[in-house]
Amino acid sequence: TPAITRALKQVSLQIDGQTIQVPEGTSIMRAASMLGLNIPKLCATDSLEPFGSCRLCLVQIEGRRGYPASCTTLAEEGMVVTTENKRLADLRRHVMELYISEHPLDCLTCSANGNCELQETAGQVGLRQVRFDGYDKTQANKSADTSNPYFTFNPDLCIVCNRCVRSCEETQGTFALTVDGRGFESQISTGLNTNFKDSDCVSCGACVTACPTGALMDNSVIQMGQPNHAVITTCAYCGVGCGLKAE
Ligand code: FES
Repeated sequence: TPAITRALKQVSLQIDGQTIQVPEGTSIMRAASMLGLNIPKLCATDSLEPFGSCRLCLVQIEGRRGYPASCTTLAEEGMVVTTENKRLADLRRHVMELYISEHPLDCLTCSANGNCELQETAGQVGLRQVRFDGYDKTQANKSADTSNPYFTFNPDLCIVCNRCVRSCEETQGTFALTVDGRGFESQISTGLNTNFKDSDCVSCGACVTACPTGALMDNSVIQMGQPNHAVITTCAYCGVGCGLKAE
């Protein structure tokens, strides 16, 4: 017998001039992505509950004041949303500038280079120069937690997006991580435990996968660099095995 499911109410809205119908409860960010619009984001992922902390996904909604986060704002019937204009671009660039102002600018030597969402998103929002320098170079790598045999936590590179904390809870059902402190002092912590090894961490790697920077990094990547995703294959036509490379 086929399963009987409840039909979800649909809402119709306009995003950047395009009309779309989505099930009630869909975020504006998801509705936009269904239209192929890629709103900049750092704290949202497809698999985690929306959190609304990075403030990069701001949009404008006709008739509403301010710039709500599209990842936590739900689509409503008749909404008219703008995801791109000069004001939004300026806001996003300034937010990103603040993130980068506290971040080391050593991308070329960082293990995450080429596989870093922070780096990618900075490019996406058009950040080229940073006016502020809030990064304390004297602290670089001093407090890295290397107690786990599989990965390293370098708080220096952390932007406290909370993705690791949420993935630990939502993906693994473990509560090994939390955020300590407020504002500039806030940091990811293993709670009352001093390091990952002594915490409730089960080394599942969900936090490492969720991290958008090089703050949580697989030790194999630190030691050997980013994995080479090129696949050596054999051409199906002759099978000689000339080592054709496919990216
Ligand atoms: Fe929406 Fe971070 S992605 S606030």
